Amino acid sequence: MVQLLPSILSADFARLADEVAAAERGGGTVIHVDIMDGHFVPNITIGPPVVKSLRKATKLPLDCHLMIENPDEFIPAFAEAGANWVSVHYEACRHLHRTLQLIEHHGMKPAVVLNPATRVELIRDILPMLHHVLIMSVNPGFGGQEFIPFSLQKIRRLAQLRQEMGLAFKIEVDGGVAHDTVAQVVQAGAELLVAGNAVFGAGQAERDARELLGAARKAAGE
Ligand code: DX5
Ligand code: ZN
Repeated sequence: MVQLLPSILSADFARLADEVAAAERGGGTVIHVDIMDGHFVPNITIGPPVVKSLRKATKLPLDCHLMIENPDEFIPAFAEAGANWVSVHYEACRHLHRTLQLIEHHGMKPAVVLNPATRVELIRDILPMLHHVLIMSVNPGFGGQEFIPFSLQKIRRLAQLRQEMGLAFKIEVDGGVAHDTVAQVVQAGAELLVAGNAVFGAGQAERDARELLGAARKAAGE
């Protein structure tokens, strides 16, 4: 089953609870929260206090995408704030296995994110630990960027590895997922679809989430 994960990065931050509610009415089932520190990526967004407020505003799982350096230092604070899924960048973790254990020990679902230039094979040995793998289909830092086409090969490769290894982790895709790209993304093997601009960009989150999810389901044959 494909799932839509609205990314609040493109929402109106002054009306966050309403925006999340609209995206949920449109079929969003997990809220994707982009955490940026101005070091790992060239942008700054939000941290645990906003996650804590979101936790009160929705019952949906909160998928926290940490685009930060030294994520270990902040994992306890995200757990305390009510995060459910936590993904860390391969490129930001010196001791990735330890970081994934830390996430799990705090009762959250661990995931690894790969930047466009990072090869899928690099995480082969830790795939059994993961709830999902997030393939970045843009360079992280900003919403509304163009989908990088070779991401599709990475999704296919990861789906192949999953089958070969008999694993059940989910494949998530983030960046430029919109009406013109969603069918290819789903057909390549992804089931967790993050979308920011395509859901919130026009200020019609319910309608636009519904349409995007409809297109994704159609492509998946659901
Ligand atoms: C980018 C973020 C994404 C972003 C995607 O660094 O990780 O989650 O919100 O935005 P769109 O869907 O607009 O490409
Ligand atoms: Zn993200």
